[in-house]
Amino acid sequence: MIAIRADLLDFTGVPAWQGTGLDGVRFRPDHWLLVGRDGRIQGAQAEDPGPGWQRHDHRGRLLTPGFIDTHVHCPQLDVIASPGAGLLDWLQTYTFPAERRHADPAVAADGAARFLDALLAHGTTAAVVFPTVHKTSAEALFAAAQARGMRLVAGKVLMDRHAPDGLRDDVAGAERDCEDLIARWHGRGRNAYAVTVRFAATSTPAQLAMAGALLRRHAGLYMQTHVAENRDEVRWVGELFPEARSYLDVYHRHGLLNPRAVLAHGIWLDAHDRALLRDTGAQIAFCPSSNLFLGSGLFDWQAAIDSGHRVSLASDVGGGTSLSMLRTLAEGYKVQALRGTRPSAWTLLHAATRGAAESLGLAQEIGHLDAGAMADVVVWDWAVGQPALHRDAIARGAVAGLAPQDLHARVFAWLMLGDERNRIAAWVAGRSPAAAA
Ligand code: GUN
Ligand code: ZN
Repeated sequence: MIAIRADLLDFTGVPAWQGTGLDGVRFRPDHWLLVGRDGRIQGAQAEDPGPGWQRHDHRGRLLTPGFIDTHVHCPQLDVIASPGAGLLDWLQTYTFPAERRHADPAVAADGAARFLDALLAHGTTAAVVFPTVHKTSAEALFAAAQARGMRLVAGKVLMDRHAPDGLRDDVAGAERDCEDLIARWHGRGRNAYAVTVRFAATSTPAQLAMAGALLRRHAGLYMQTHVAENRDEVRWVGELFPEARSYLDVYHRHGLLNPRAVLAHGIWLDAHDRALLRDTGAQIAFCPSSNLFLGSGLFDWQAAIDSGHRVSLASDVGGGTSLSMLRTLAEGYKVQALRGTRPSAWTLLHAATRGAAESLGLAQEIGHLDAGAMADVVVWDWAVGQPALHRDAIARGAVAGLAPQDLHARVFAWLMLGDERNRIAAWVAGRSPAAAA
């Protein structure tokens, strides 16, 4: 039984898009979070729980639910920060060659361990992840997540065309691999299987049909893919599937859209597409750092809200340039500012914690500090480095002559200036993994 003392911040509901008020926000300064032997949160209290608990005193620091990254590529840590001339060039020049190496089980195992340790080191305790086309890379990722007790959604990448040798599967072989992986890993530990179509351009219609059949055959599977990220890509998919109304419609026609579908990017969608996302319950993973780095475009989050479909936040490493969800949220804010709208820190943080958990159907387990939730939690320094420390002191009212600011101002500065250097400790299901300690 452990007790962690810190300023506890999470959400009990959906905060207002722009509001700095505390609707839906739960802030419990200088409280103890109590975690039972089963790794679940028991509650929180201001009083010291006493010597029966293994106490971790982080007073003066911030504790949040671990971040949930809803779209990230394990093998792409090898190519993070590689400058391509847009998505399709970047895939051919850097990404596909890097992914081919993960056919080797030793490379896959080493990559999976390094990737999950890096996620934890950045304060991310749950993720929806692409490995590679190779069955062994999915195996390695599931095994590494289980060893760490992490909540993971992943699946072998499907791609049977328009990819180089060594990176293509075929419909029958891929179906066998998926069935094997589902039987071995779906629901084992904290793993869930996602039917993982790389994107419409790298799967034949027969493979997309097989992916749809898998989803119908096995209740509870996730689906992950990319959609409408880049204008050249959208044009290409239009040529490959002339019968479809839109890029998104390709997935719809093959039975791939449902409330467990996570589609990355969704920049170049229209009102019909957004209505289809709403009606099917599918969500878009907004990947601001990747969209900026690859020059893909500015996601219209406001239009998503207006049309009623769900949005979560994602790093999309290696198109994205950091695994830090704080950096990702800060980039998300700037992208929205360029679109003329400014989400609050609450909106951003909610989308990467409770909001993501709800969108994934995992709110009974992760994304908040309610009693009964898994203790996937992270302790952060409010500020690191002189400018951030000074800014935090101003927010706290600790600088003579300046009035204290509201909680939103302090949290906004933490979010905007923070990164993995602020991360002090992490627990996964109440345990502090060696690499995350
Ligand atoms: N579209 C298809 N594959 C990828 C990928 O690996 N990264 C990104 N950002 N977009 C893709
Ligand atoms: Zn991606």
